[in-house]
Amino acid sequence: GKVTSKDGFSEQQAWEELQIAKAAAAGGNGGPGAPRGTEKKYELLVEEEDYIEFVVDAGDARLAGEGEVPEPPSAAETHAKAHASLQEVRRSLPVYKFRDAFLDAVDKHKVVVLTGETGSGKTTQLPQYLHEHGYTRGGKMIGCTQPRRVAAMSVAARVAEEAGVTLGREVGYSIRFEDCTSDATVIKYMTDGMLLREFMSSPDLGAYSVMIIDEAHERTLGTDILFGLIKDIARYRDDIRIVIASATLDAEKFSDYFDMAPIFAIPGRRYPVDLYYTKAPEADYLDAAVMTVLQIHKSQPAGDVLVFLTGQAEIETAQAALEERGRSAGSTMGELIIAPIYANLPAELQANIFAPTPKGARKVVLATNIAETSVTIDGIRYVVDPGFCKQKSFNPRSGMESLVVTPVSQAGARQRAGRAGRVAPGKCFRLFTAWAFENELEPNNIPEIQRTNLGNVVLMLKSLGIDDLIHFDFMDPPPVEAITKALEQLYALGALNDRGQLTKLGRRMAEFPLDPQLAKAIIAGAEYGVVSELVTIAAMLSSGNAVFFRPKDKILHADAAHKAFHKDGGDHLMLLAVYNEWAAAGYSKNWCKESFVQYRTMCRARDIRDQLLHLLDRVEIPLNEVETGDEVAIRKAVTAGFFFNTARLSRTGGSYKTVKHQLGVSIHPQSCLNEKLPRWVVYFELVFTSREFMRQVIEIDPGWLTQVAPHYYKPSDVAEGERAARKMPNAKARARAQA
Ligand code: CDP
Ligand code: MG
Repeated sequence: GKVTSKDGFSEQQAWEELQIAKAAAAGGNGGPGAPRGTEKKYELLVEEEDYIEFVVDAGDARLAGEGEVPEPPSAAETHAKAHASLQEVRRSLPVYKFRDAFLDAVDKHKVVVLTGETGSGKTTQLPQYLHEHGYTRGGKMIGCTQPRRVAAMSVAARVAEEAGVTLGREVGYSIRFEDCTSDATVIKYMTDGMLLREFMSSPDLGAYSVMIIDEAHERTLGTDILFGLIKDIARYRDDIRIVIASATLDAEKFSDYFDMAPIFAIPGRRYPVDLYYTKAPEADYLDAAVMTVLQIHKSQPAGDVLVFLTGQAEIETAQAALEERGRSAGSTMGELIIAPIYANLPAELQANIFAPTPKGARKVVLATNIAETSVTIDGIRYVVDPGFCKQKSFNPRSGMESLVVTPVSQAGARQRAGRAGRVAPGKCFRLFTAWAFENELEPNNIPEIQRTNLGNVVLMLKSLGIDDLIHFDFMDPPPVEAITKALEQLYALGALNDRGQLTKLGRRMAEFPLDPQLAKAIIAGAEYGVVSELVTIAAMLSSGNAVFFRPKDKILHADAAHKAFHKDGGDHLMLLAVYNEWAAAGYSKNWCKESFVQYRTMCRARDIRDQLLHLLDRVEIPLNEVETGDEVAIRKAVTAGFFFNTARLSRTGGSYKTVKHQLGVSIHPQSCLNEKLPRWVVYFELVFTSREFMRQVIEIDPGWLTQVAPHYYKPSDVAEGERAARKMPNAKARARAQA
């Protein structure tokens, strides 16, 4: 990491703080047993001597207004706007003036590159314009891709509302494991990953008349691969139109790539934003962010606040802290309305962030990077930017991928600041120094394709018949090493043969909208007679949200209830047990409540499970009629997919080393193996907070490794004890691994 470090702030601490904060909040009226320890931490927040000092730096002091900057709206105008009809709002968006010119450009050119400031109406309006102009005649659809599923859902909901139709009918969306479209659908929002999947069943995208690749500047892995595939289609399909939409001005690059496609720019319209920096680096940005929000609330005129955090755990911690302060500040200050938004936020809570703020109150939106460009929230005048986001990071040498809190780029920081200037002049509080901005932040984001495991994509491209990956027309090619690594991994999984061709197993794996490892584990489950169990485990692992909850007033009960699910073999078996007990209880909501299990997560897992069962049917893998629950068979099947993720207990203390690359890792504190510390484990994923934690862990017998992955593990890799340790390649590698 660069900029200020978030010293020692781990997910677990965040979680613990959250529990303490929640408990403290509950104990506000002297409730029994509620620890009051955190009072001191936020007590003085609204005292001015405790304020974080911000400075305005001469260098990048102001994000200038852009285009014709209109007069700031009067209170009457703001009021009128809040009560305008949806159609009036549509006509007031910057894209509206360019409607005809846009349609004209699309009529004339196969590929059009379009840029426009976030919030100008690209995502919500363009598909409607195209529909009104006749592009959906004859039953063709207009597709629009989004890098994030929350954006796809929320935008589709908005457009359905504007068009006065039921979501899922004429206007729908499609995200992994959730298809909300019908035969009547003419405007379809989808994640870029879902469009990639559609290529597998329909390589010419025959159902679409126009495809909008939206948020192209984000350069997600899916978008980058789509570029290559779409470019090809545009060359041979005369009746398709492609729109590449981007919020930033790097349009030249897109235009060059798409055979000099014309660029269509919607003039920007943004009020100036004053930029503030901290005087010194902040040791704890989460704390600083909470402080800054309270400072703004106390000292700044009306206007909503947008805070950029890195993930759900941070957002929940900040929310608890702010709610508590909001309560104790009582009637002396206006109400603070806290609205979180992150990838796994349940659909029914998403509407909250768009609800207009009542008079006298102030809305604080706690968002992940999703609010940088994908989602626009009206009324924001203050932005708090700690300068971090969570990113995938990938080491092509070891093939290991993990989620890491990373500093944003300068471009990202400017985008974030720009969110404050949409409705009136705004302010952005950066929780880092001006010096750090200039000297420590990268100028631009690195495209995801250059920092991710390509296993998934390579498998998909192979199944589309694209064999020569090195010469695929990438806009920015991934490192050759990363492609090689992906090929090696797919070979080790048995998805490719030694000539790099897809095997029958590989073809089956590609059918599953899952990472190759998880797909392989399911298919291996069939071999061991436990496929039904594996499908349940895969569904639980894919459900995205926490399975357990610990309400503040019943922490002891909750912990005891959770402990009852613990399994000696590890977390996967525990997830299976939770699901099966729930199923045996008739999928009951009450059972969840009593067991302190998240009902919503379980319903989602059930839904995913049903879909995976359909897929099994399609690839002709029979289900075992009766679940034997054979724990060894289940753990073997998991190992058959996840053998790359093997770690061995170090002889010193409770830490682990990965077997192939000798990286230091630990069992996640919430794992049921956290105390047992078996000698050999396989994990589902790594999360990096204060260190690398293995999340969802099972115990294995090292002998299985050479059985399930003979191309990957030699007996010497998995020999017990001293001998293997001495077999480490050389002292240098060891030193490097420890560094
Ligand atoms: O795509 P772009 O950033 O250009 O703009 P957009 O997402 O189409 O947003 C246009 C307008 O629709 C903004 O004023 C948003 O606040 C509003 N909108 C909304 O109210 N609810 C949504 N779920 C999405 C957009
Ligand atoms: Mg958009």
